[in-house]
Amino acid sequence: MSGPRPIVIAGNWKMHTTPADAGELARTIAHRIAEPDVVRVICPPYVCLAPVRDALAGTGIAVGAQNIHHELAGAYTGEVSAPMLAGLATWVILGHSERRRDAGETDELIARKLGRALEVGLRPILCVGEQLVERDTGQAAAVVEDQLRGALTGHEPEDLVRGGLVIAYEPVWAIGTGRNATGADAAVMADSIRGTLHELGLPEHGETVPVLYGGSCTAANIGEFMNEASIDGALDGGASLKPDEMAGIVGRAGVTARARRGGGAFREAASR
Ligand code: PGA
Repeated sequence: MSGPRPIVIAGNWKMHTTPADAGELARTIAHRIAEPDVVRVICPPYVCLAPVRDALAGTGIAVGAQNIHHELAGAYTGEVSAPMLAGLATWVILGHSERRRDAGETDELIARKLGRALEVGLRPILCVGEQLVERDTGQAAAVVEDQLRGALTGHEPEDLVRGGLVIAYEPVWAIGTGRNATGADAAVMADSIRGTLHELGLPEHGETVPVLYGGSCTAANIGEFMNEASIDGALDGGASLKPDEMAGIVGRAGVTARARRGGGAFREAASR
């Protein structure tokens, strides 16, 4: 591997904010997360992409969409395709569990969306994660492996890496519940995800692909995840709308980014 993987903190605003207030919130958060060692992404609703893009201009913080359609254009009422996001977003969240649940997104559909993202150069954050019953019955790793295989099969491994693929491990039972996974459990899953990427033939055994944790991640618990060498950041929902939370999360992520770059786990340990 050529160097440490980037540390990524992405905020998923979900169905919150309006075009009238999103720019101001983005500006407020941007001032609090001026941390160039961390790759920072804010993903507002479609209608807020333009004001957030304008608010973040010159900050080094990227803008992401929360979804795209699997076709490029056509008779798809109410949908937004990947090429429509040109000039508005450079990242996109795919396969979020809320879309799997509410919009019936299957792995096959997510695979097609992933293809569209790669075609137009949107950097994909692919979300995977098990339900509580699946964890309780010992199937978490197998479920996530199936999701990865379903979404990634058919894509050239080199294209996935060149497109900057990021995986977000988000156990469904932890999303929006205030009940986060432990750092140790998330690390086991991140290792298992990399094992699958390796089996799927990704260059450098998938070692260059960042794996994020998501699910009730906050400023108070981010350290637990960043202390795990296999976890490279977080996808935040609720916390991403709160400037204080984002400041704490990105600040802590920056400590890890510098420690990993310096190759000194001990320096990071000292800051815990
Ligand atoms: P949460 O959401 O941080 O509110 O749990 C995470 C997500 O859905 O990405």
